[in-house]
Amino acid sequence: RSEPIEAPEVKSEAAKKVKIGIYFATWWALNVVFNIYNKKVLNAFPYPWLTSTLSLACGSLMMLISWATRIAETPKTDFEFWKTLFPVAVAHTIGHVAATVSMSKVAVSFTHIIKSGEPAFSVLVSRFILGETFPSSVYLSLVPIIGGCALAAVTELNFNMIGFMGAMISNLAFVFRNIFSKKGMKGKSVSGMNYYACLSMLSLLILTPFAIAVEGPQMWAAGWQTALSEIGPNVAWWIAAQSVFYHLYNQVSYMSLDEISPLTFSIGNTMKRISVIVSSIIIFHTPVQPVNALGAAIAVLGTFLYSQIWEIDLLPTSRAQCDD
Ligand code: 3PG
Repeated sequence: RSEPIEAPEVKSEAAKKVKIGIYFATWWALNVVFNIYNKKVLNAFPYPWLTSTLSLACGSLMMLISWATRIAETPKTDFEFWKTLFPVAVAHTIGHVAATVSMSKVAVSFTHIIKSGEPAFSVLVSRFILGETFPSSVYLSLVPIIGGCALAAVTELNFNMIGFMGAMISNLAFVFRNIFSKKGMKGKSVSGMNYYACLSMLSLLILTPFAIAVEGPQMWAAGWQTALSEIGPNVAWWIAAQSVFYHLYNQVSYMSLDEISPLTFSIGNTMKRISVIVSSIIIFHTPVQPVNALGAAIAVLGTFLYSQIWEIDLLPTSRAQCDD
């Protein structure tokens, strides 16, 4: 009996799926480690503006070393590239610092439950700001996402308004970041990895003066003394770990954004949050009420439904537009 012969397109499609699967799994695993160290740092040293800056600085340094030692190819950029990158960097900076401020005020799981509402922000921004329209099934799938997030928020035992608003602002900023990034990366010779490296560097320049203005060296010095006396020098290692893992997970996520649409990226990001929510609840012994867990489950399930609707109804069109 002769083996059925697979068309080369089928094989390359399957190989692409495996590659994206590996990127996604690595991205999620790195993200879980980042979130744990990030929260350990924020518990001991609650200066989210500084820790956000340090994670960007660490990533920038890692990439400069990689370029200098030719581990990674130095990208060829021009003024136009940096100009297009600027709005992406502003959105990245706002989204990053807002999420970190949020996590300094509430449980990691709560920040990520609210952040699982990102697809809803993506649809609302596309509808009201970019003027795109969607079938009613897409709008209907937002009901469980928004409803689930709302239920989880109102039943959160340690609700804090800054923590809530930080996660909401981060959602909005990251939707813009993903839309602008995909546009900026399209047709450019800069790879996803180098694109993220340049993004880190520009964000670092934007964030540093704000971090100094909002917190500043005096606060940091006093906080550092307290952290050293309460925890000891290990805090320095935790800061290093959160910074390195922050860069690595974002770098891998941008490598996958090279291959997928912003929408698929958003869905992958939301699914990632399940592993972060579950692992952080276990590690930090976060108290969870049944109704609170129900809200989180509805929100995540809503995102799954939303992704199915895109897969069935809209992906052929969106692929043609974005996945090339
Ligand atoms: C950050 O600090 O930038 C956030 O923790 C990242 O959030 P994300 O899970 O959306 O990447």
